[in-house]
Amino acid sequence: MRRLVWFLAGVVALLIVLSGAAFVYAKIWAEGFSAREQPSAVERWGAREARALAMPAGARERKNPVPNSPAILSEARAHWADHCALCHANDGSGDTEMGKHMYPPAPDMRKADTQNLSDGELFYIIQNGIRLTGMPAWGGSEHDAEDSWKLAHFIRHLPHLTVEERMEMEKLNPRGPAEWKEEEEEEKFLKEERTNEPQEHHHH
Ligand code: HEC
Repeated sequence: MRRLVWFLAGVVALLIVLSGAAFVYAKIWAEGFSAREQPSAVERWGAREARALAMPAGARERKNPVPNSPAILSEARAHWADHCALCHANDGSGDTEMGKHMYPPAPDMRKADTQNLSDGELFYIIQNGIRLTGMPAWGGSEHDAEDSWKLAHFIRHLPHLTVEERMEMEKLNPRGPAEWKEEEEEEKFLKEERTNEPQEHHHH
């Protein structure tokens, strides 16, 4: 009798697993696996729950050991502009060529979903990245850990970022070869202007 119960439980468990797999296959078969689609609400919720479960005990409760100050924020802002803005945008909206077209896309970090994460959670994510997404792991050295705590302060500041701060960040964003070339040409042009200037003055 006991064996029969175990057997039936086994069959039921197998059926659940198989129907889950069948559901996923059917979905992929129907929709392909393009990164262009938007993750469904169920997927987003599932991914967040899975992430919360995978976070080691205590990570959430860790307090930020770096005191917040304008100097720390300014340093983290420059760091963000250089390393994170490519996907997350200077203002944290995720509205960039890369961030938008990832699956899952870079979220708008000014919104509650991100702002409700604790500093400890933000720190853990920055250090370890998020599996199966475009979010890389940035932690390696002691120095990285300090930077990550500073970035957690900056992420809290994102909803209050000023226009001046954003403009300052634009100067720090990494540039691709096309932009460097454009700048080089502009400079060459300005130089020519400058060397032409004295002659023009003579004419007048
Ligand atoms: C190559 C693209 C890329 C870069 C560069 C990048 N991220 Fe991300 N990041 C992502 C993506 C995509 C997600 C969303 C992953 C998900 O939905 O689970 C993400 C998620 C996050 C999250 C979690 C937000 C939330 O609400 O779930 C944090 C925090 C974060 N990134 C911080 C950073 C910081 C800080 C840097 C720079 C040091 C950075 N990221 C650089 C792509 C990137």
